[in-house]
Amino acid sequence: MDIIYNVSHAILAHKKSVTSLINEVFDVLRRDMNLQRGTLTLKRDNALIIEASIGLSADEKKRGYYKIGEGITGRVGETGKSIIIPDISKEPAFLGKTGKRLGKTAFICVPVIHDNEVIGTISIDSPFANETELNDKRKLLEIIANITADGIAVLRNEIEEREALIAENQRLKAELNNLNKPDSIVGNCNRMRMVYSLIFQVAPSPATVLIRGESGTGKELVAKAIHDASPRKSKPFIAVNCAALPENLIESELFGHEKGSFTGANYARKGRFELADGGTVFLDEIGDISLATQVKLLRIIQEKVFERVGSNTPIKVNVRIIAATSRNLEEYMGVGKFREDLYYRLNVFPIYLPSLRERKTDIILLADYFLEKYNKLYIKNIRRISSPAINMLMSYHWPGNVRELENTIERAILVSNDEAINAYDLPPSLQTAKETRTNLIEEGTADFTQMIAAFEEELIVEAIKETNGNIAAAARKLGLTPRIIHYKIRMLKIDTEQYKSVK
Ligand SMILES: Nc1ncnc2c1ncn2[C@@H]1O[C@H](COP(=O)(O)OP(=O)(O)O)[C@@H](O)[C@H]1O
Ligand SMILES: [Mg+2]
Repeated sequence: MDIIYNVSHAILAHKKSVTSLINEVFDVLRRDMNLQRGTLTLKRDNALIIEASIGLSADEKKRGYYKIGEGITGRVGETGKSIIIPDISKEPAFLGKTGKRLGKTAFICVPVIHDNEVIGTISIDSPFANETELNDKRKLLEIIANITADGIAVLRNEIEEREALIAENQRLKAELNNLNKPDSIVGNCNRMRMVYSLIFQVAPSPATVLIRGESGTGKELVAKAIHDASPRKSKPFIAVNCAALPENLIESELFGHEKGSFTGANYARKGRFELADGGTVFLDEIGDISLATQVKLLRIIQEKVFERVGSNTPIKVNVRIIAATSRNLEEYMGVGKFREDLYYRLNVFPIYLPSLRERKTDIILLADYFLEKYNKLYIKNIRRISSPAINMLMSYHWPGNVRELENTIERAILVSNDEAINAYDLPPSLQTAKETRTNLIEEGTADFTQMIAAFEEELIVEAIKETNGNIAAAARKLGLTPRIIHYKIRMLKIDTEQYKSVK
């Protein structure tokens, strides 16, 4: 009676932590029954594993692993029926996995049953005794098993949940490690994984690559990653921004010039193609070059031959060409602004970079990366981005893509004067995401018409973001006529300009 009383009290006192409950129960048994040795096993997969014990060393505990049906414990786990072994030295089924016993010892094992299922066992060693005495102990142990079964079931669930979490964590870590990713590029989304696999696929060959994507999506980063993963990595990587060079300079920049070839050419100069010999030339904004330069580029791609400006001597180089553009080359080709033959020469291996809008899952990853980068650069110690700021980063449509995100974080680090980036550290363009109508709804003071208006606005803005500011396309997405969408845009005062992507 005392024992049951104390066990039931232990259960009440240790409602929160099941592990401490089990230990407390064993303590009661040790004190009131003079118990020297006892174990609690829990069933997991197809085995019973010792979860708590008294009188066992850590090593002995580790050996306590019984397949269902194996030994006495395994048999109790299988049948759900208690077993008494009056003398373990005479019982061949007794495995003694957890160590030898001295003297004549009895062994009692009872099932722990929860929801008609055996979830574990409780077993004790008992000094040699007559049958009635052992039976009484068995009954007592069964009562204890029954009243602690709920708690033990919780313990089992806790362990299973913890192990599932650990396994999931390990799986994710392994996945991250296995992700074959250039070190310089941040991003884990499927679209970027596809980009990584294309990078590694094309890097070993000398093939021409055309990288496409909006401004600020990381085209130059990808070009450099291809070079770095190629056999040319120890040779130069020369980037030329074709849009930044005035037309009269671009040819001499690319191909070099002889002394006196034009006014101001006071000495001979090597062009970028000569400087890059053995390495890679990255032609950024290739869509912006003139038709005349396009002809020369075509020749260099086809024959790897060119002449310096003011010279007739052909120069042969070994360069790999990677080009990039944010322009719609197909459209340019249609209106005669881009040569078809050059287009096909460049387009042998296109890589499309997603806009930041299309890879929202990477926003936090990138923000953290830039946080670290600019913390170092400005010797600051800003460790966190507040939740409201994260919400703003996530709901913004990022027309300037990763470059804009990078600038945003850099600026926020400079203006923040505590240890976090707060919503008010972000630039005004991101603040508009917090529209007044939305505020009314959050405050719970919007009326029916305002709620409808907010809902309509959200639908229309989302569609416009997705179509990069193309209103006709947004109307089609929503199944609206152009007349209706323009009417709504006017009524709701939606600023559509800001959703046009930067090309
Ligand atoms: N995936 C990315 N991981 C880390 N930084 C990036 C990533 N994409 C872009 N950036 C950074 O954003 C800026 C713009 O990238 P850039 O390659 O110049 O874009 P693009 O050439 O497409 O305009 C650079 O500072 C670059 O380092
Ligand atoms: Mg660029």
